[in-house]
Amino acid sequence: MTGKIFKGKVFLLVTGASQGIGRKIAEVLGSTLESGSLVLLLARNAENLKGTADNMPKTLAVEYRSVDLSKATAEELRSIIDGALVKDSGADAASKFDEIVVVHNVGSIGDVTKFAVDMTDFDYWRQYYDLNVFSPAVLNGVFMNVFKGKNIKRHVINITSACGIQPFNSMGYYCSGKAAREMYFKVFAKENPDVNVLNYSPGPVDTEMLDTVTDNIVDPTTKEIFKDLKENERVLTTDQTVKKFLDILSSKKYESGDHVDYYDEL
Ligand SMILES: NC(=O)c1ccc[n+]([C@@H]2O[C@H](COP(=O)([O-])OP(=O)(O)OC[C@H]3O[C@@H](n4cnc5c(N)ncnc54)[C@H](OP(=O)(O)O)[C@@H]3O)[C@@H](O)[C@H]2O)c1
Repeated sequence: MTGKIFKGKVFLLVTGASQGIGRKIAEVLGSTLESGSLVLLLARNAENLKGTADNMPKTLAVEYRSVDLSKATAEELRSIIDGALVKDSGADAASKFDEIVVVHNVGSIGDVTKFAVDMTDFDYWRQYYDLNVFSPAVLNGVFMNVFKGKNIKRHVINITSACGIQPFNSMGYYCSGKAAREMYFKVFAKENPDVNVLNYSPGPVDTEMLDTVTDNIVDPTTKEIFKDLKENERVLTTDQTVKKFLDILSSKKYESGDHVDYYDEL
């Protein structure tokens, strides 16, 4: 297993940690952490979150909370983080950590049965952006503010996509959401040169999300691209992409705020 990437006691928060890439990131990154570190896992499905927590080293304190991130307010997010910290080590818990890491992994694909011209429902747009753009941005601000003024190393990882920089037919919600979300993290990186920010694009990965796209996408050209990936065994496992993610983090060969893809040379 990969050696230490972060030093000392770490507070690691992973969103969308109940399955897929987020679960694997939590498990693999968790296995690199020093004992006594704290991990907070967020998603809706509590049973699956428990499954992730059960797979993590017993030397860590692992907390998980069922939360719909498309609906949670900044106050609710703050309360979840404070609750995990206090349960772990009391009132001044935020001072215990040497490094903090947040992985904004949560995501949904959106309605891939529509072309851009048919995306005319304001409510759907709002709902989609609530989860995929606004919630990572708000959580990021809340998380950073918990540790404001502390002499602590900060790492922010946004799980982005090639779809954030390249348009695909009938993926207007997903592509535009990924682009907006990534640009927020680029602005955040520019404003905060002391924070290590990585926009990691994991490649096509065998998860429920990929199945949803392949099954439902309405545009024939895009459908063919996804079918071809599957048929020619070019879909990655979560193990493969998370290993590369750790290699990228360890190599530190990127500029803070960069978009780094699975297929990029290190
Ligand atoms: N798979 C790919 O090929 C691929 C490629 C490029 C980028 N990505 C990105 O990688 C990230 C993870 O995707 P994945 O493929 O692992 O997808 P996934 O298997 O569908 O997992 C999505 C995660 O997000 C959580 N989630 C969804 N809606 C939520 C909500 N309203 N509130 C809280 N949590 C919610 C889900 O948990 P619950 O259902 O328990 O809430 C789950 O843990 C996403 O940002 C995705 O865009 C994936």
